[in-house]
Amino acid sequence: MYKHKPFTDKIVIVTGASSGIGRATALKFAKGGASVVLAARSHDKLKRVADEIAPFGTPVHVVSTDVASREQVDAMVQGVEKEFGRIDILINNAGGGAVGTVEDSQFADQARKLLEVDFFGKVYCSQAVLPIMRRQGQGVIVNLSSVVGRKAFPRFGAYSTAMHAVSAFSDTLRQELHGSGIQVTTVYPALTQTSFFSGLPKDRMPVQFTHMRPLAPETVARAIVRAVRKRSPRLILPWQPPLMLLGDTVSARFGDWFVRMMDKGWFMRLIGMYGRGP
Ligand SMILES: NC(=O)c1ccc[n+]([C@@H]2O[C@H](COP(=O)([O-])OP(=O)(O)OC[C@H]3O[C@@H](n4cnc5c(N)ncnc54)[C@H](OP(=O)(O)O)[C@@H]3O)[C@@H](O)[C@H]2O)c1
Repeated sequence: MYKHKPFTDKIVIVTGASSGIGRATALKFAKGGASVVLAARSHDKLKRVADEIAPFGTPVHVVSTDVASREQVDAMVQGVEKEFGRIDILINNAGGGAVGTVEDSQFADQARKLLEVDFFGKVYCSQAVLPIMRRQGQGVIVNLSSVVGRKAFPRFGAYSTAMHAVSAFSDTLRQELHGSGIQVTTVYPALTQTSFFSGLPKDRMPVQFTHMRPLAPETVARAIVRAVRKRSPRLILPWQPPLMLLGDTVSARFGDWFVRMMDKGWFMRLIGMYGRGP
């Protein structure tokens, strides 16, 4: 719990707030005194998160929104501006995943769907809030990418492709907004224990997940809040993936080797990421 409430009077939109990282992040901002707007498709699940937030005594609004629909996103953002008069922070988090190889017949459809939700959803939300943040002369946009948005994993191609698109979009936006007062942060979490994996077939998942210790969604949420406060341009967690990414920049052979080694328990122990997968 915060000693003082750093986000009092701040209006924060969290997409994908009904579960996992989004839920944990919404709770964290609400604990920090923010008014939170919870957006996702399932009204019932959002309502349950709103009930968890109610004891903190901060305003909380539930808006059923499919982020893949520009019309629904625009309506949600217009509603928030009408209600609160401003938008301080957008957490662009909504999204899902898919597993399977590039040769699978569903690959193109999976990639298209993930681009629609995980990538264009973030584009629509950003484009909707930016005129408001420009008028304010300040604001924060946090885009959830993933470690595989910097180095793809086999059997995770459709998702890795969408996350690379998010990384490039977020990197572009941050530079275009330099000096505007609007901060853009890209977040790259490794495997995180959420319902993200619950609908995905285990036998087609990346083998790298077999011995990987997942992060808790609360750990990611805490890091997001810290990144917002510190105005960090980028956040990669835990600390080990940057070593792989550094090596991969120098040599794709090294990067591919590192990813291959991640399916070995002893190697995951060696780099301190050993666990039982999602
Ligand atoms: N879990 C991981 O290992 C991991 C690692 C790195 C990055 N990430 C990223 O973190 C973000 C959150 O994932 P999570 O792990 O917290 O997964 P999660 O627990 O499955 O939560 C996903 C959230 O997104 C919402 N959502 C999905 N499709 C949507 C749509 N079309 N419109 C609006 N909301 C939608 C879901 O709610 P509804 O179904 O009700 O819409 C849910 O609230 C994702 O962007 C993911 O790419 C996850």
